[in-house]
Amino acid sequence: MHKNIEPAILYFGTPVVLVSTLNDDGTANLAPISSIWWLGWSCMIGLDSSSQTTENIRRTGECVLNLPSADLVESVNKIAKTTGRQNVPLHKRALGYRHETNKFEVSELTQQTSVSVSAPRVQECPIQLEPN
Ligand SMILES: Cc1cc2nc3c(=O)[nH]c(=O)nc-3n(C[C@H](O)[C@H](O)[C@H](O)COP(=O)(O)O)c2cc1C
Repeated sequence: MHKNIEPAILYFGTPVVLVSTLNDDGTANLAPISSIWWLGWSCMIGLDSSSQTTENIRRTGECVLNLPSADLVESVNKIAKTTGRQNVPLHKRALGYRHETNKFEVSELTQQTSVSVSAPRVQECPIQLEPN
């Protein structure tokens, strides 16, 4: 079967990464991101500029890329339509997003102190990447 798609772009679903970052009050934020891929030593991340994650990475220059296993899908789903931003951006409000201060608690995932960055990693994730 042949099917034309709209928009006509090649955008496969890619595995989800949980990006953990540090808020300016020292608490942690967590966000599911799937626009992420690696080119040699560099990692490219497609981030909504209005996200708390983007603000935190710009401010601190740090994050942890936590790769969840398939059995953590419920944890990912629990924070799927949330943002750490107090004022939920209009486009996210229209999509049903809500503000959550503690997404580790909502997702029932555990913060673990990182080795080389200030942002905590996700203990349950079998792979935790600390770019620095
Ligand atoms: C499965 C999944 C994949 C997502 N992929 C991306 C992505 O690649 N880039 C992005 O900016 N947001 C993506 N999002 C939406 C973010 O999680 C959303 O922008 C969230 O509000 C970010 O949280 P923050 O504002 O606390 O940083 C994805 C959400 C889900 C559930």
